[in-house]
Formats: sequence, C-alpha cells, structure tokens
Amino acid sequence: MGVASEKAALDQQGSKPADETIADDAQALSAQLKAMRERLFPPASQKTLRSFTSGEAARLVGVSDGYLRQLSLAGEGPQPVVGTGGRRYYSLADIDALRHYLAEQALAKGNVAKARSYVKWRDPGLGEHLQVISVTNFKGGSGKTTSAVHLAQSLAMTGHRVLGVDLDPQASLSALFGYQPELDLVGNDTIYGAIRYDAEARPLRDIIRKTYFHNLDLVPGNLELQEFEHVTPRALAERKSGDAKSLFFARVQAALQSVADDYDVVVIDCPPQLGYLTLSALCASTSVIVTVHPQMLDVASMSQFLFMTSDLLGVVREAGGTLNFDFLRYLITRFEPNDGPQAQIVGFLRSLFGERVLTAPMVKSTAISDAGLTKQTLYEVGRENFSRGTYDRAIESLEAVNSEIEQLVHSAWGRKE
Ligand SMILES: Nc1ncnc2c1ncn2[C@@H]1O[C@H](COP(=O)(O)OP(=O)(O)OP(=O)(O)O)[C@@H](O)[C@H]1O
Ligand SMILES: [Mg+2]
Repeated sequence: MGVASEKAALDQQGSKPADETIADDAQALSAQLKAMRERLFPPASQKTLRSFTSGEAARLVGVSDGYLRQLSLAGEGPQPVVGTGGRRYYSLADIDALRHYLAEQALAKGNVAKARSYVKWRDPGLGEHLQVISVTNFKGGSGKTTSAVHLAQSLAMTGHRVLGVDLDPQASLSALFGYQPELDLVGNDTIYGAIRYDAEARPLRDIIRKTYFHNLDLVPGNLELQEFEHVTPRALAERKSGDAKSLFFARVQAALQSVADDYDVVVIDCPPQLGYLTLSALCASTSVIVTVHPQMLDVASMSQFLFMTSDLLGVVREAGGTLNFDFLRYLITRFEPNDGPQAQIVGFLRSLFGERVLTAPMVKSTAISDAGLTKQTLYEVGRENFSRGTYDRAIESLEAVNSEIEQLVHSAWGRKE
C-alpha cells in the first residue's frame, strides 16, 4: 500500500473526523489557489479591455468601415487611435460615443428611427420595460455562465445598458470580471445584501459595481448568497399574513426595480440548483434562457428540471407571484455538429419544442474554453490569439445566438426590425 492510500485508509478508519480532513483539504486547496491567482493576476492588476479594430467598430455601430474612415479623415465624431500601418482602433467607450454622435446627426435631420437604430436604449414612455433574462438549468456545466457573460457583453457592445447579476455562490461570473470573490468582497457585497430580510439590508444601487466593459455593470456573487437559502425557510415560517415584503420570490424583483431606470437589460447567471435564489430570479424575470448540452444524460436531467421548476413556479403563482415571460428559449450549448448522437438529440428537441429552441446553437470551441482558462471571454481575447478559422467559427456562432436573443428582446419591446 502506498503512503497516500495508507493515509486515505487511516482517515477513513476515523483516525481523524471527516470534517477535519475536509477542512485540511480546503485549507491546502485555498492556499494553492490563492498562490496561483496571485501569479496569474497580481492583486494590483485590474482587468482592462482591448481596443477594437475599425472593422469591428463599424460592425458594432452598424455602419460601413468606409464610412467610419470618412468620419475619421474629416475629423468628425470620436477619433480612433492610429496604430502601426495606419490601423485605426476604438475603445468600447469611443464606439458608444460614435453611436451617440451618429444618433444626434440623424435627429438633427429629423430621422428618429435612424437615431434609435444607433442608440438602442429602451424608451419607458413607449412601454419598453426592463428586460430581466435569467440563464438557468440545474445541470452543472451546461454552459450557463459562458452564455450569460457573452450575452451580457454582446448586449453592452451593441449599445444597450446592461446589468449582470451573479446569483451563483460559486461566483464564476464575477471571476470572469476579475473578482476574487473571497478576497475582494467583504460582506453584503452581493445581491444578498439587497434581498436579506433583516436590518442589514442595503440598496442594490450601492452594491452595483462598474466594470471595465463600457455599459456593463455587475452585482458580484460569493458564498454569502447561500445564506438566502438558509434564512428563507425561517422568514416564511415567521411571516405575518399579508406581509408581502417577506415573500422570498418578490425580493429580487423589488431590488431590480429600484435600479430599473439605469438599465435596458439585466442578465442573471443562476446557480446549478433549484433553490430560493433561482426561484426568486425566475420570478423577477421577463425572459428565460435554459441552457442545454445535447447529451442524453443532460437531457434526462433537463426533464427533471422542467418538472421541478413547473411544480415550484406553480406554488409561487398560487401564492401571488407573477410569471409572465416575454420569451422562454432553450439554448443548445457546446454543440458538436459532426457528432451524430448530438445532432439527433438536437433534432429531437426541435421537434418537441419547435421555436422554443433557439435557431442558432452555441458550438463547442477551444477558443471559448481557452479564453475561459485566462478568465476571459471570446470578445475580450481578440482574433490574433487563435487560428483564424477557430476564432471566426466561434464568434460567428456566438453572434448568431446573441443577435437572436437581442431580437427577442427588441420584439418584447414591440420594435419591428
Ligand atoms: N461553447 C463552448 N465551447 C467550449 N467550451 C465551453 C463552451 N461553453 C462552455 N464551455 C466550457 O464548459 C465549462 C462549463 O461551462 P459554464 O461554466 O459556462 O457552465 P455552467 O452551467 O455555468 O456551470 P455551473 O453549473 O458550474 O455554474 C467551462 O469550462 C467552459 O469554459
Ligand atoms: Mg456557472
């Protein structure tokens, strides 16, 4: 018997209580992770965003590259930084300023529709309500965080004001935005701070953080979120009848309402479990994206998820929660088009659910997983880091998915495009 397995056997025989063994392992792992993180991201380093080529900028604004060039030659509007070989680069904030500049020009000519095609902010006066999109499934690793972060960034890049909410105690979304959840957040720094039942609760507005992504703010997550699962049963038991404030399912919604004026879309990254947090997110949602990795086991677990969700939402509805979604869509994730069984499962889901399966699947790509290793998204890494084919295939699939969702958002607002 080797030393390691001897030790494991000893531990199992009870030479050390299990909780202590686990605590030791947790400590060892946490120390190693901290050391690794410090090597990768020195504490002082803040994440920043690359600049975008004029081609990318033109596509994001919705004009031709030639027209942008003309503007820059004429010295009109925000000016690009000119790099080697005369290449022109724009920051995301410049791109947004360009949009506003072009919208003003259009307005000056009385072309309101054109102005609105540049600046896509919702108009509450026209009944365009805050879109709250939950990305959910209790299947771990189904691509929730990856889909949520790319959707939030894509909507911000295309000119919407976006709030990302990390509802997962594991805080993977926050990590992608450069947070080290145990180190950077002290307490009451997650949405729990705004939805807790006691006197420590504080306004969501004070919890929201700006990110290095223009037009994209974040409510970070960490382990304290788990607290909501523990205290909600007690709050329910102690609730006085008629006290709507303590109804758990109304709390996320109320918190989001308090900042609604500042945003067009909220994207919530849900935890891989169907607890009070997820239910509260669903109750606050105007729309839902269920991520599905097309494998038989995952699809079987998805049917469990749907049964449980429907049961629980039914209970919430009877208790007075409102559940009217503008859209609910299944998003196929990590799709491998050449994998026969996967293609079959996708076909099967499409025949079952019809248009509720998004037309565009998110393909599996090393560009996405490699970017994830350095806590980046595909939008952040840029094309030069991959073989062109790999990057272009991934970005094409991503854009197809995100523009389909953007269109659903716009049609929920009653816009015709
Ligand atoms: N399209 C893709 N191509 C390649 N890898 C992907 C893709 N989408 C997700 N992944 C990888 O799969 C893993 C799981 O994805 P992700 O973290 O998004 O899932 P999740 O549903 O949020 O997981 P959890 O349930 O733990 O919150 C990650 O390592 C991610 O980088
Ligand atoms: Mg996740």
